[in-house]
Amino acid sequence: MSVRIQIAFALILNLISQINSQTALYIPDTLSGTNFSLTVQTGTKQFIGSNNTPTYGYNGNFLGPTLIINKGDSITFNVKNTLTQATTVHWHGFHVAPKNDGGPHQIINAGATWSPSFKMRNEASTFWYHPHGTGKTEIQISKGLAGMIIVRDSTERSYTLPRRYNVDDFPLIVQSRVFDVFYQVSTATHEDSINMVNGTIKPFLQVPKQVVRLRLLNAAADRTYNFGLSDNSSFYLIASDGGLLSQPYQTNRVRLSTGERVEILVDFNNYNIGQQLYLKSYASELPKGIIGADSVGTANIAISEGYYSNPLNGVNFNVLRFDVIAQALNPVTIIPTAFSPKVPLLEAGTNAYRKIKFTPDTVTSGQQGKVDGPFLMNNKPFNMDSINVKTFLNKKEVWTLVNKTMVAHPFHIHDIQFFILDINGNLPPLQYQGLKDVILVQPNDSIRFIAKFTTFADNNVPYMYHCHLLHHEDDGMMGTFLVQDPNTIGIKESNINQELLEIFPNPSNEKIILKITNEYQHESIESISIYNSLGMLILIYDSIKSDQHEINVSSLPVGFYTLKVKVRGQDLKIKFVKE
Ligand code: C2O
Ligand code: CU
Repeated sequence: MSVRIQIAFALILNLISQINSQTALYIPDTLSGTNFSLTVQTGTKQFIGSNNTPTYGYNGNFLGPTLIINKGDSITFNVKNTLTQATTVHWHGFHVAPKNDGGPHQIINAGATWSPSFKMRNEASTFWYHPHGTGKTEIQISKGLAGMIIVRDSTERSYTLPRRYNVDDFPLIVQSRVFDVFYQVSTATHEDSINMVNGTIKPFLQVPKQVVRLRLLNAAADRTYNFGLSDNSSFYLIASDGGLLSQPYQTNRVRLSTGERVEILVDFNNYNIGQQLYLKSYASELPKGIIGADSVGTANIAISEGYYSNPLNGVNFNVLRFDVIAQALNPVTIIPTAFSPKVPLLEAGTNAYRKIKFTPDTVTSGQQGKVDGPFLMNNKPFNMDSINVKTFLNKKEVWTLVNKTMVAHPFHIHDIQFFILDINGNLPPLQYQGLKDVILVQPNDSIRFIAKFTTFADNNVPYMYHCHLLHHEDDGMMGTFLVQDPNTIGIKESNINQELLEIFPNPSNEKIILKITNEYQHESIESISIYNSLGMLILIYDSIKSDQHEINVSSLPVGFYTLKVKVRGQDLKIKFVKE
C-alpha cells in the first residue's frame, strides 16, 4: 500500500469513528420448513457513510437468512448461483453425505442451481452456511456470503430455554473487516479494524429484562474473539458447536475462533430497564500466537502486514451494546441446572490413530513465524483430486493435531462432531467437553480428539478437514478424507486390526491381488479362503509364501465375497466384489 493510500485510508477510518454512531443491530430474516430456496446474488451495502460497497448475499445484499430446521426432517435446498463466478454452499457442522456437503467438490457454476436433499441428523445447535470453493472462500465470505442455521430438536425443546427468535434468542454473526479507498472489501490483510455484528457496525440491541440466549458465531476471516460482558459479570455457556453441553457452565469469558459457535444465556434481569452494557472482546487476554492477540508470529515479519497497527489487535473492544428494556411476555427467568449428559466416546476399541501436523510451507513463501503462511497439513498442499485420509464406515478414530507453527490455527473437520480427549495431555476445559467441529490449536499444542465416522460412506467423494483461517484454507491448508463403504469396496476388516489387508482391483473380474501390510507382511500365510455372500466356502488356497498374492477369481459367479486369510493363527477378512 502506497503512503498516499495509507493516508487516505487513515482519514476514512477517522471518519468512521466520528460519523458512525450506534446503529440498531440488523437481525436476519428466518426461513423455516423443509424446502429452502437460496439465491446467491450480488448487491451493495453502505458501510461507510453513503458510499456503496459491492457485496454478496443469500436472498439479499449481505449475509443470508437464518435457516431454522427440525432434526429428523427431510429437507431440500435449491441454491441458485446468480454470480458470474462459481461458488459452493457448505453446511458447516452438518452430518450429511459428502455429495451434499457443499465442499470444493460440489461446485455451483455461475448460473447453475444445486439441489441437495438430506435428512437433518444433527442435534439442536447453532450451525452456519458459507462458500467453500477452492481458493475463493475468503473473498466470498468477506463480501457477505454467510448465514446462521438453528437446528431444533425435542431434547432441546424439553428444557426451559429462551428460543423465540429476535425476542429472547438472538443470532450474532461476528466479523471484522477493512475497506479500501474505493470502499471495496479487502481480503488477505491484517488491517481488519472495523468490527461488525450481522453486518452492523457499532450495533446496539434492545434486550428484555430476563434470561436471553445469544448465539455467537465467529464468521471472521481469521480473528479470534474473547467474549465477555463490560461489567465482567458472568453468563452461562449452554452449547458448543454440536449441541448442548452436559450442563450450563458459568463463566465470564468465552473464546471463539473462526468457524466456532457457542450459545450463552445472559440474565438481563440483573440490570435495570434503560441500563446499557456491552458485549466486548477482551483481546488483551488472548495468548500470543492467536490472531487478535497483541502478538502473533514473529514480530518483524508480521509488522509489514499491518497487524500491529490494527487497533483491534491485543486491545479490549466493544462488540455490541445492550440496552435493557421491559420484560417480554412469558419470560424465561431461570437458568437450567443440567441437560442430558454428553458422554464422550471411549478410547478403548479405537480403530485408527492418525496425526495431522501443521507446518509452514517452506518450499513456497512460508517461513517459520510468518502469520500468513502458506501452511501445510502433513506436508501436503490441498489437492482436489487426491485423498489424504481413508477410513471406513463406523470406524472410531483418534486424531492428534500438532501445531509446529508460531500461529494458532482453528482446525475444522466435516461430516462428524468430535469429542476432545486431551489438550497437551490435560482434560479439556468445560467449554470444550461437548460436541465440537472446530478447535483452536495454539503453537506447540498437541490436541487429541475422538470421533466415529457413521452413516455416510462414499468411495469417491471426499470430505474436508482444514484450517478455518480463510486465507490459510484458500492457500491449501486443507486435506481430504474418504469414508469408504466396507460392503462395496475392499474393506480391511479383521478381528485383529482393520488395516492389515488390501485387495485390488476391487471390484474385479479376473484376478485380485492381495496384500498384507504391517507386522504380518512377511509371515507365511497358512491359507486363503473365499466365501460367498451366503457364507459358503467356495475356494481355498493353502501354504502361500510371498507378501503379495494373486488369486484368480474369473471362475466365480458375479457377486459379493469374503476373503479370509489365516496368518500366524489369526483370521484376517476382507470383502470384495466379482463383476
Ligand atoms: Cu466452515 Cu470446511 O468449513
Ligand atoms: Cu491456519
